[in-house]
Amino acid sequence: MPDHESTRRTVVIGNWKMHKTSAEGVALAAELVAGLEPGRAAVAVAPPFTALAPVADALRGSSVSLAAQDVFHEREGAFTGAVSAPMLAAAGCSIVLVGHSERRHVFGDRDEDVRRKALAVLDAGMRPVVCVGETLEQRDAGDAENVVRSQVEAVVARLSEAQLARLTVAYEPVWAIGTGRTATPEIAEAMHRVIRASLAALAGSGAAERTPILYGGSVKGDNAGAILAGANVDGLLVGGASLRADSFLTICHAAG
Ligand code: PGA
Repeated sequence: MPDHESTRRTVVIGNWKMHKTSAEGVALAAELVAGLEPGRAAVAVAPPFTALAPVADALRGSSVSLAAQDVFHEREGAFTGAVSAPMLAAAGCSIVLVGHSERRHVFGDRDEDVRRKALAVLDAGMRPVVCVGETLEQRDAGDAENVVRSQVEAVVARLSEAQLARLTVAYEPVWAIGTGRTATPEIAEAMHRVIRASLAALAGSGAAERTPILYGGSVKGDNAGAILAGANVDGLLVGGASLRADSFLTICHAAG
C-alpha cells in the first residue's frame, strides 16, 4: 500500500467537455448515483455550464461532487459569455478545473489567466484543479519537466497556506489527451514526483504532501489501476471514458 493513502484521498473527476445536454447530463448523473459503490475514492463530474444546475439537483444527497470545467476570473460585470466563480458556487459546484490544455490551446489561456482563475475559485470557497502538461514537441525536445514546473509555479507561488489546503493539481500530457495514447505508469509517476518536488520547493513539504496530484489522458477502465499504483498518483481526470456510466463506474471502482 503506498504510504500516501492515509493522508490523500483518491479523487476521480469525469470531465464531460462539450458533451451532454441538460437532459442527457441528468440521466448520466442518475446512473452514476445508482451505480456507484461506496469506496474510498472521492468522485466528481464536470458537466458543461448549461447542465450544472440540473445535474446538481440529480446529485443532491449523493456522494458525487459537482465540478465546472472553466471559469472567468472577474466576479461580475460586462464580460459577455463569461461565467464567474460565485455563479458556479451558487450553481452547486465545489470544484473548478482551470488551465485544462484545451483551454490553453484552443482558447489561449496563459499561465497568468490560469493563476487568476485559480484565485477566483479559491475566493469563492471552492477547490481549483490546476491542469498542467507538456505538448509532444516539448517532450521530444526534453523540455517536459521545465514546462510543467513553470506551469505549476505560475499558480502556486504566493498562495497562502489556507489556499494551498484546497489546491489540486492534474498532470495531463497534451499528447495523451483524447488520443488513446496513455502515458505509461512510469512516465506519469515520474512527472508526478517532479510536480510534488516543485510544490515542496514553492510551498513547503507539508503542503506538497497534502496536495492531491491527478493524472489525465486517455484513462480507461483497463489502465486506471496501473496508473493509480504510482505512489504520487492520487487520482484521475477522465475525459472520454466519463461519458458513459459503465466505463466511468469501472474507473471509479478501480480507484476505490
Ligand atoms: P481523455 O481526456 O480522457 O479523453 O483523454 C482527459 C482530459 O482532457 O481531461
